[in-house]
Amino acid sequence: MKEDVKKIMRRYDRISHVYDVFESPMELMALKQWRLDLMKELSGKVLEVGIGKNIAYYPENIDITGIDFSQGMLKKARLRAETLGRQVHLLLMDAQAMDFADNSFDTVFTTFVFCSVPDPIKGLEEIRRVCKENGKIILIEHVRSEQKVIGFLMDVLNPAIVNLYGANINRKTVENVHAACFTEIAVTNLYRDIVKKIVIKNFK
Ligand SMILES: C[S@@+](CC[C@H](N)C(=O)[O-])C[C@H]1O[C@@H](n2cnc3c(N)ncnc32)[C@H](O)[C@@H]1O
Repeated sequence: MKEDVKKIMRRYDRISHVYDVFESPMELMALKQWRLDLMKELSGKVLEVGIGKNIAYYPENIDITGIDFSQGMLKKARLRAETLGRQVHLLLMDAQAMDFADNSFDTVFTTFVFCSVPDPIKGLEEIRRVCKENGKIILIEHVRSEQKVIGFLMDVLNPAIVNLYGANINRKTVENVHAACFTEIAVTNLYRDIVKKIVIKNFK
C-alpha cells in the first residue's frame, strides 16, 4: 500500500474512537436529514464507500455492502451494526483499488468520503467501474467554497486539518467527478456552496 494511503488510513484509525462524538453536533443540525433523504434513493444491490453513521439509517430489506480502509472505522461500524441488529456486509478495502468485479452494484453512495480519499479521481473511477451501466451514484460531500474569502480560508486551514483529521476541506469534488469521466451529473447545494449532493447516472 502506498505511503499517502497509509497515512490517511492511520489518521482515521486514530480518530475512530472519537469520530461519533466529534460529529454529533453537525449530525443533529443537518446531517441526519440529509442521510435519511439519501436512503430513500437506494435500490438493488448497494455499495457504501467509507462507512460510519449511515448504518443507523439503512433501510430494511436492502442488500448493502460497506467498505472502509480504516480498521478502526470498520470496527466501530461492526459494533454499530451489531447493536442495531443490522445485517451488513462490511469489508476492509481501499476505494482506490476495490476487489469487486466490474458492474457489481446498482447503487453506490458515499457521504463525506471524497474529502479524504488520497487519490479522489482514482476512487471515483473505481466507483464507475464497479457500478452497473445506468446505475446510480450518489455523493454527499463538502467541497471548497467558490466564495473568495471562505475559499482562501479553507486553503489556509487545510494542511492543519488534514494533519489532525485526515480530511481536506478544500477539495474540488465536482471537478474531480468530471475528471473521472462521468457525464450525467446533477449537483444540488445542501449548505451554501460547501455541502453538495452529487447524483450521477453511470454511463460507460
Ligand atoms: C469523514 S469519514 C465519513 C464516514 C461516513 N461516511 C459518515 O458519513 O459518517 C470518511 C471515511 O472514509 C474512509 N475512507 C477515506 N478514504 C478511503 C479509501 N481510500 N478507501 C476506503 N475508505 C476510505 C475513512 O476511513 C472514513 O471512515
